[in-house]
Amino acid sequence: MIYLLALDQGTSSTRSIVFDQQGNIVALAQKEITQIYPEPGWVEHDPMEIWQTQLSTAREAIAKAGLEASDIHAIGITNQRETTVVWNKKTGVPLYNAIVWQDRRAEPTCVVLREQGLDQVILNKTGLRVDAYFSGTKLKWILDHVPDARSQAAKGELAFGTVDSWLMWQLTQGGKHVSDVSNASRTMLFNVHNNEWDPELLQMLDIPPALMPKVQPSGSEFGTVAAELLGHAIPICGVAGDQQSALFGQACFTEGMAKNTYGTGCFMLMHTGSTFQTSQNGLVTTSAAQTGQQALYAIEGSVFVAGAVVQWMRDGLHAFEKSREIETLAQSVPDSGGVMLVPAFTGLGAPYWKPDARGTITGLTRGTTMAHIARAALESIAYQSTALLQAMSRDSVAAGSAPLAELRVDGGACVNDLLMQFQADLLGIPVLRPTMIETTALGAAYLAGLTSGVYRDTEELSALWKVERRFTPQMPKAEAQALMDSWEHAIRQTCAD
Ligand code: G3P
Repeated sequence: MIYLLALDQGTSSTRSIVFDQQGNIVALAQKEITQIYPEPGWVEHDPMEIWQTQLSTAREAIAKAGLEASDIHAIGITNQRETTVVWNKKTGVPLYNAIVWQDRRAEPTCVVLREQGLDQVILNKTGLRVDAYFSGTKLKWILDHVPDARSQAAKGELAFGTVDSWLMWQLTQGGKHVSDVSNASRTMLFNVHNNEWDPELLQMLDIPPALMPKVQPSGSEFGTVAAELLGHAIPICGVAGDQQSALFGQACFTEGMAKNTYGTGCFMLMHTGSTFQTSQNGLVTTSAAQTGQQALYAIEGSVFVAGAVVQWMRDGLHAFEKSREIETLAQSVPDSGGVMLVPAFTGLGAPYWKPDARGTITGLTRGTTMAHIARAALESIAYQSTALLQAMSRDSVAAGSAPLAELRVDGGACVNDLLMQFQADLLGIPVLRPTMIETTALGAAYLAGLTSGVYRDTEELSALWKVERRFTPQMPKAEAQALMDSWEHAIRQTCAD
């Protein structure tokens, strides 16, 4: 039997999973990571905690599997994207905490870029809208605000990386400063047409090119883990940002195939093959995982708060003790009783893009209970995803393709049957939950397996994808439309404009 190890560094936790070659989980180890909120709208992680939890869970997963490191054929890495780390190349010490993708501090820079009318040039080169979500303006913030950062950068002493890059630097003990196209495409500094850092964009944000990692295809040889870390020099053969990795793990390899991942946020991606297609409906274009030199793309919609709304109800409102209790609470009422909850805690992402929006609850009556609010919280995940899918379908039709016919789902919250049925009802198309919902990690393992010769081609991987449950729409179309209208009404209450 051949084993692959996936390192999955997410926003809420760090995980390591050993897969067998059929894509079954052999062992999993996980550790939560500390969320740091220094100011309203700011979110940070400790880069050393990211690294330490990754190393310790990798060791734990291998041990739990009853294996030695030498039994692991190759490693794949997948990670929370856009999160920005800058470190000193000589000492390996981070200059500042990792600025997490949810962090809004770089918004003033984005305002300037928009005022200078640079939106279009950025969109054309990167496929992205100007937004503080992406790494470029976060990196600029570190260079501008950390004492001495600019002078160290000028001397070539600093390295920038998204989390994949930071982990590979550590895993190779400073031997490799690398990243992959899917992570690079989330920086707002990467030209997704020629797969290179763009000199004009770097200059626009005053970023010295020497900071940037070397970018490789997602399925390629990135380096070898230093033997003393895990007990054996294992090659790293696959790297992709978590959402592109999940698209790969869901076997969505061709144009028109789509998936939605229900994690801290919700991320819907539709593969568009080798066509760079920009959205007319508030979505972004991103590089899909690539196994060769050919550029491949996806259209993406990101919801900033999805599963995180459940955490907020647990930790902020103390509505229940364990996240899974939300399903029972929500099911204790037949519907939300007209309550709509828009969890715009850090502004609204696609397709609305309202950085100033804040969370809102509408439709409260004297009869509203915590159960109604729980149900509205859960339903908000499906409403936001439906708005994304509708935008995606409009883009598909505009590009001369058919609207989406079905949606593959994964991520922690997709185990919630109530949510998945409501999702299918609102979408009006079947929602397909596969037997393996750890598709983010699986995608990284598959990339590593393809590069290292475990798998022949993507067709072999498609054959491994199996549906566990198909949720078909039950709700009359008019009722679903009326609910979406109420949702859009609630969205309009989230900010002044
Ligand atoms: O773009 C942010 C995304 O990559 C984070 O994913 O799963 O950590 O919420 P997740």
